[in-house]
Amino acid sequence: MERLVIVSNRVPSLSLETSAGGLAVALKASLEESGGLWFGWSGTITERPGPQPRLDQCGAFSLATLDLSDEEFHGYYEEFSNRTLWPVFHGRLDLLRPDRKAYQIYRKVSFRFAHALSSLLQTGDAIWIQDYHLVPLGKELRSLGKMAPLGFFLHVPFPQAETFAALPYHRELLSDFCAYDLVGFQTSACAENFREAALRYLGGSLRNDGDIAFGTHSVRVGVFPVGIDTKAFREMAGSSDVQRRTQRLRACMHERDWICGVDRLDYTKGLAERFRAFEMVLDETPALQENISLIQIAAPSRESVLEYRDMRSQLESLSGRINGRLGTFDWAPIRYLNKAFNQAQLAALYRVSRIGLVTPLRDGMNLVAKEYVAAQDPEDPGVLILSRFAGAAQELTNALLVNPFDTSAVAAAIREALRMPLMDRQMRWRQMMNHLETNDVHAWRREFLKALKATSNRARDDSSP
Ligand code: G6P
Repeated sequence: MERLVIVSNRVPSLSLETSAGGLAVALKASLEESGGLWFGWSGTITERPGPQPRLDQCGAFSLATLDLSDEEFHGYYEEFSNRTLWPVFHGRLDLLRPDRKAYQIYRKVSFRFAHALSSLLQTGDAIWIQDYHLVPLGKELRSLGKMAPLGFFLHVPFPQAETFAALPYHRELLSDFCAYDLVGFQTSACAENFREAALRYLGGSLRNDGDIAFGTHSVRVGVFPVGIDTKAFREMAGSSDVQRRTQRLRACMHERDWICGVDRLDYTKGLAERFRAFEMVLDETPALQENISLIQIAAPSRESVLEYRDMRSQLESLSGRINGRLGTFDWAPIRYLNKAFNQAQLAALYRVSRIGLVTPLRDGMNLVAKEYVAAQDPEDPGVLILSRFAGAAQELTNALLVNPFDTSAVAAAIREALRMPLMDRQMRWRQMMNHLETNDVHAWRREFLKALKATSNRARDDSSP
């Protein structure tokens, strides 16, 4: 295996160093090692997108990108990826409105991407596709005669088999998943759900090693919890730049405690439930009023999708109501910010916050939870409150784990975190940090590629279901 080819809907920008998170940085590091190629959508919508990818050099590796047409952006990205697959993968069947035309466009984009990518492939490439936007791409590459090892990693949760089957196209999509040599998930529960769905709806057979076999083709199913670049994040959080930023923040905190939440503005993140839990803490413990604030960053996301716009107005009115009812001349209970911030700004926020409140209703992993831990001052670390329904809860078992739907339980966890003695905080932080140091994003990439390489000796054909 010589060259790594990464495929994802979004590709890193050419100025990656200043703005990107751990995952993009680590994937970039792996491409720098292998001198590879990153292929995906350019982020641009044009009237008549050309069939040839645009090539750019990004350090030691190449970026190859394609534009989307307006119709493709709407059908593939908005309607099918984010209004159909996203709610199904996160168990929100109430939001599911499957649309056959959008599904056809979704498949057509994978077909077009596969054709464009195939002209760039070389003997010895290993291909690693990221996330739910491009599930059919592997099968398309096989049908074009490409025999390279094909790996797929799902960053979002895989739901229970019956939930997935609510999608009218579940069999075709399962068959697309099974065309890969290796399919990776964030948690063992997700891998189990996938196995059950593939066995039940495609009729493959389960082998002793957990692979699923269909005639001469088999797919390996693995668990690879994604990590952050722990060392780099920790170093950045301790840098003089971040120190200056934390001093500035402390000066405007007026000795109040901060709780921070950092998310994309998404209905899976449990933001309304979080605001209500914080409101409950303030109502039930008046002594905390004026002494504590929730700083909630909700970076705008998928704004052309109706459910995201609805969520935005709901959060605006909820935070406005809470601030209007409880706020004073010089204190706002919730500082609600609809903007994205860079990594240094976030590291400073994490470091000054007594509590990191990460309470998604459902989440594949949640890297904010990991970054919050990595940013803490070892002498005086803050407390992570983490949803049981985030993949990260399988690893960060020393966080205060909560059910995000249970308002009083989240409120109780906030009070417990505020009271937690220093020794207890240090012990929990050390254990979580040990885990993050060993299981970082570089280990994630290495483990996935090792498992992909191990599939190389198997027969490859397009006899997948
Ligand atoms: C989630 C998905 C990613 C996606 C990101 C941002 O984390 O797993 O694949 O890139 O959200 O969403 P966007 O729609 O802006 O790409």
